[in-house]
Amino acid sequence: METPVYDFVQAYAAAGNVRLHMPGHKGKGSLGVEAFDITEVFGADSLYEAGGIIEKSEQNASFLFGSGNTFYSAEGSSQCVKTMLFLALMRFKELHGENFKERKVVVAARNAHKSFLAAVALLGLDVVWLWPEEQEDYHLCCCPVSEEGLFATLKKVGFPVVAVFLTSPDYLGGLLDIHVLSQVAHRFGTLLLVDNAHGAYQHFLEPAAHPLDLGADLCCDSAHKTLPVLTGGAYLHLAGSVAKTMAPYVRQALSMFGSTSPSYLILQSLDLANRYLANGYEKRLAQCVGRLDELRGELLFHGWVLYGKEPLKITVAAAKCGYDGREMASLLRAGGVECEYADPDFVVFMFTPENEEEDYRKLLACIKKLAVRKELCRRPPAFLPPRRVLSVREAVFSPYELLPVREAVGRIMGPAAVSCPPAVAVVVSGEEIGEDAAEVLFYYGMDRVAVVR
Ligand SMILES: Cc1ncc(COP(=O)(O)O)c(C=O)c1O
Repeated sequence: METPVYDFVQAYAAAGNVRLHMPGHKGKGSLGVEAFDITEVFGADSLYEAGGIIEKSEQNASFLFGSGNTFYSAEGSSQCVKTMLFLALMRFKELHGENFKERKVVVAARNAHKSFLAAVALLGLDVVWLWPEEQEDYHLCCCPVSEEGLFATLKKVGFPVVAVFLTSPDYLGGLLDIHVLSQVAHRFGTLLLVDNAHGAYQHFLEPAAHPLDLGADLCCDSAHKTLPVLTGGAYLHLAGSVAKTMAPYVRQALSMFGSTSPSYLILQSLDLANRYLANGYEKRLAQCVGRLDELRGELLFHGWVLYGKEPLKITVAAAKCGYDGREMASLLRAGGVECEYADPDFVVFMFTPENEEEDYRKLLACIKKLAVRKELCRRPPAFLPPRRVLSVREAVFSPYELLPVREAVGRIMGPAAVSCPPAVAVVVSGEEIGEDAAEVLFYYGMDRVAVVR
């Protein structure tokens, strides 16, 4: 597969032109990559007006992912999530007119990333949240959504909604049934938007299991999370069904939420990923998935309790094995293994085909040194959906003050407090912070919050 962006930059660097343009390092510096860190010089195309090498590279990506259109982002899924909601709102206005009398509602699973909340505030949307149907299922990172649950929520709203927004995979490796849920959304005449930040690779599984393969209309992937792409590289995919109507809006929408100087290092990295994906990736991915199944088998054999269904994540239910997840993470760190995420209940390890056999062995050896203990009898405190007092937008654009959580009980959340990762809010901007919610905030290690003044 061709790599037009990478080739162009290589040739530019080799030509040794006098760089009387940005960036200020002029192609020299200690990082070693400066020669390839260029700006929109002649021939380099321009991400938000692409019609040359960047567009060609995006078309290659679209071909590989089987999308209607694929667009690059050098600013992560965070930029794409906002863009998806902007596009859904444009479609909604085209269908229902500017004078739509009801609220402009997005139905969203509660484990949405903070970029979703930013989009809701910036675009003035209202959210009807999907909560885990069983209280016992509450965990900051997950929100199982059933066909019946989504159907009942859309029916209860009773008027057209801008979109349904779901996160799958979630941070713990939970997966939603996108196939079924997309059918429900479509029955109600709305779009399904999927935050697939953790699942770019899923199109290359056998059978393909990317949200676009399963019926999503718009989808974002953080290429950098699971593919060999520099941090910040992401895709915004449009399904064939919406490509014609939405594609003309996409670049303008992306540019509203991003810098006018997207990194060419990241764009080259996305470009090179096309070649990587085209050259036997399915096979390497299948081998990696198989090796992880073996590792899961070994961990289960030694008594460890695992969670999640995502093929490239291993999630240990640490508390069920007698460990605070953060304690387990620090014990593993001492043994030279760094996890992706740890909280009081779980530890998450992310693998890709780039991991070597030694990595699997080392993780297993380190975990084997820790004996499985008696289950820690605890779980996130019981928590009822907080009372909404202000819209997300009203709350985010209100002056606020920082308070210790104890003193914030009874006040309204300003910019939502999130720990990063997973950047998911317990109490969303505009909601009242109840005693029960305060306990959950503590549970997840947040002790100060911003409240509306
Ligand atoms: C579920 C989810 N969505 C979106 C994002 C944002 O992705 P990015 O870091 O590519 O902007 C993240 C980041 O961790 C995430 O976990």
